[in-house]
Amino acid sequence: MKRLCMTLAVVAVALMCAQAAFAQAEKAPPGKSDTLKWAEAHFKYVGEKTCKMCHKFEFDSWSTTKHAQAWAALKPEEQKKPECAECHITGKTATDSLLVNVACESCHGPGSDFKSMKVMKDAKLAAAAGLLPITEATCVRCHNKRSPNFKAFVFADALKAGIHAHPAKAGATTTTTTTTTTTTETKPK
Ligand code: HEC
Ligand code: HEC
Ligand code: HEC
Ligand code: HEC
Repeated sequence: MKRLCMTLAVVAVALMCAQAAFAQAEKAPPGKSDTLKWAEAHFKYVGEKTCKMCHKFEFDSWSTTKHAQAWAALKPEEQKKPECAECHITGKTATDSLLVNVACESCHGPGSDFKSMKVMKDAKLAAAAGLLPITEATCVRCHNKRSPNFKAFVFADALKAGIHAHPAKAGATTTTTTTTTTTTETKPK
């Protein structure tokens, strides 16, 4: 019996190693599978202040949405409960600090590797570095019945009501502002 357990343990470890090696090698975004899990396995969250350096327009607009208030919606004792905090935060940084609220990377993916100007300007590089396509699944991982305050979720309507404005639709003045800010290359670290 003991020997059988040992053998099983060895096999399990070998499988885990093989899997880890495979995960290392797999540096390209998966097709339809869980893209967020893939991104979280390879990249780190950096926080919305980093995105703000180049995307002030989206940041300012996002700041007026409920997503930017999601943490404050929880009472202090609820903030300590993982079963509540889960959908009211973005994640943790590489240095383990908590990024509260539903910020940029909750929808766009962890930004450690796509946040540089060079990568951001190249859609293919950005996708390979963790910038995720946004689909209904992006939202439904939080907007579902596990939320004690769940209301019906209609993707098309929610897109209009819940996220930030887009510069192209917001008129010439704001577009100019965004262009100016995006060309200011800042090296976040
Ligand atoms: C150093 C400047 C810089 C930083 C920092 C930055 N971006 Fe970008 N981002 C850009 C540029 C430049 C583009 C390309 C704009 C274009 O082509 O019109 C872009 C494009 C994008 C796009 C649109 C991609 C597409 O396919 O249309 C998204 C979404 C985005 N960034 C999200 C983020 C998020 C989220 C963060 C923070 C984690 C971030 N960016 C940080 C400069 C930056
Ligand atoms: C599965 C994700 C998820 C979990 C887990 C979750 N929430 Fe939320 N919470 C949401 C979403 C999404 C909303 C926005 C309302 C909606 O459309 O469902 C929300 C809204 C809220 C609001 C605002 C209510 C309103 O009507 O504006 C409060 C307060 C809140 N949640 C408290 C909690 C507490 C307390 C817990 C833990 C017991 C919790 N949430 C767990 C996703 C979640
Ligand atoms: C609730 C989800 C969500 C959050 C949070 C969010 N975005 Fe977006 N963002 C979107 C969607 C949806 C689009 C439309 C394009 C698409 O489908 O990829 C978009 C588009 C963009 C674009 C492309 C240009 C544009 O405005 O259409 C940029 C840049 C961007 N977001 C940056 C940000 C930044 C910076 C933040 C944080 C301050 C942020 N986003 C937060 C969902 C989100
Ligand atoms: C990480 C979890 C999470 C993700 C991902 C997320 N949301 Fe939310 N969303 C929330 C929470 C939590 C609230 C409630 C915040 C509050 O009331 O303070 C909320 C609120 C909203 C609201 C306002 C609802 C109201 O009652 O006024 C809309 C609209 C919305 N989200 C749309 C979206 C869309 C569209 C997407 C995907 C593109 C998305 N959300 C992705 C967690 C999330």
